[in-house]
Amino acid sequence: MKHIDIKELLSSKELIGNTVTVCGWVRTSRNSKSVAFVELNDGTCLKNIQIVIEKGSSEYKEPRVGMSLKVTGTAAAGRGDTVEINTAPSGVEILGGCPPEYPLQKKGHSLEFLRSIPHLRGRTNTFNAVWRVRSVLAQAIHRYFQSNNYVYINTPLITGSDCEGAGEMFQVTVNGFTNEYKTEEEYYANDFFGQRAGLSVSGQLEGEVAAMAMGKIYTFGPSFRAENSNTPKHLAEFWHIEPEIAFAELPDVIEIAEDMLKHVITELLEKCPDELAFFDAHFEKGLVERLRELVSHEFGRVTYTEAIELLKNSGEDFVYPVEWGCDLQTEHERYISEKVFKKAVFVTDYPKEIKSFYMKQNPDGKTVAAVDLLVPGVGEIIGGSEREADYDKLIAAMEERSMNLDLYSDYLDLRRYGSVPHGGFGLGFERLIMYTTGMSNIRDVILYPRTVGSIR
Ligand code: 4AD
Repeated sequence: MKHIDIKELLSSKELIGNTVTVCGWVRTSRNSKSVAFVELNDGTCLKNIQIVIEKGSSEYKEPRVGMSLKVTGTAAAGRGDTVEINTAPSGVEILGGCPPEYPLQKKGHSLEFLRSIPHLRGRTNTFNAVWRVRSVLAQAIHRYFQSNNYVYINTPLITGSDCEGAGEMFQVTVNGFTNEYKTEEEYYANDFFGQRAGLSVSGQLEGEVAAMAMGKIYTFGPSFRAENSNTPKHLAEFWHIEPEIAFAELPDVIEIAEDMLKHVITELLEKCPDELAFFDAHFEKGLVERLRELVSHEFGRVTYTEAIELLKNSGEDFVYPVEWGCDLQTEHERYISEKVFKKAVFVTDYPKEIKSFYMKQNPDGKTVAAVDLLVPGVGEIIGGSEREADYDKLIAAMEERSMNLDLYSDYLDLRRYGSVPHGGFGLGFERLIMYTTGMSNIRDVILYPRTVGSIR
């Protein structure tokens, strides 16, 4: 179907006076005696194009909101600095009708209501802007890593080993365990893979395999977590960016995380000014200024031990009590980034008991070389670490956690054959989108959110 994208036409003044064709869905339709005005949107940009229809004497059928149209007419200078299309009724072809029960008749629906129509919400300005920010950020992330000599690796989604060890793996099974088998082991031995398998919570372990050959790699794919957390920032299926870097220690990992975020947000500011202005006006006043500040200032840095002191001396009445050794809850993370630093802040060197087996053990014997990046409004958006590169120390950490070493033989081999200091991090893509759009619920930054108790 030959036509021009509305985004192209709106910025192509040189086409004024020419015959053009656009396609799209009707956002609004107004009718006067001799002229009708239709606002058409094709999803290529936030702006609609105005179609001015000279009704003349011929029969005219008014397009209804939600209909899809193909319009051919003359490009003309519109009000302000825009382009519009002038046409006659014969230039308007209805591609798909739309009955009056179409749910997006008016503007200003609540996000909650829009969540109940995930197949249609992309036709609102809000979701039109979110999906485009998502696309631009994804491309910016690829560009950042590709232009810095990282190799893009696809790690398996079905795995036999739990990377984070938090017991949050969805199981992958053909039939499910039944009484027919005496033990679960016997059942899994007869299952598809001949052993227990699940959906990966992180591509990191395989990412390390690739980094030990390619030096610098990154993954960009889905991770799955059967976390029973019905919160505004947890999904059961989220998109995960995980760079892994050989010949790198914790400070290098932190430097890369900061540089990467600043680059992708700078690109977003350049490529999506209209979308960000929209979020600034409707969702978070001052958003654009906040993003500009983020890219022009150094992120904060604090150790976990210092953060605990700050929290204890805060005078705040936290729901979860604070003691050295406790996991930081969202309320703690937000206090540190919003009240103390008032910006993005890296928290490092967590107690080894609350972090994963693979993290490099610090000389103090109590902490590991872990890092989380906390940002105002969202809390943690990045989790990473330097990895334990020493074979014996890694085995000891795994044995302390009663892990089945047989499942991790490849991973352990990496420490036997030319082990090097290395590290990496995981960035939750949806959390980055929340942070850069001001959307406060993770369900509103992914096409079809998968959360506990809800799938569609
Ligand atoms: O801190 P996490 O669990 O770290 C890892 O998975 C490491 N293997 C990463 C690495 O070092 N390669 O998860 C990393 C990030 C979190 O900071 C968060 O942004 C996101 O993944 N994340 C989630 N996002 C949405 N819903 C969930 N349930 C999430 N769990 C983690």
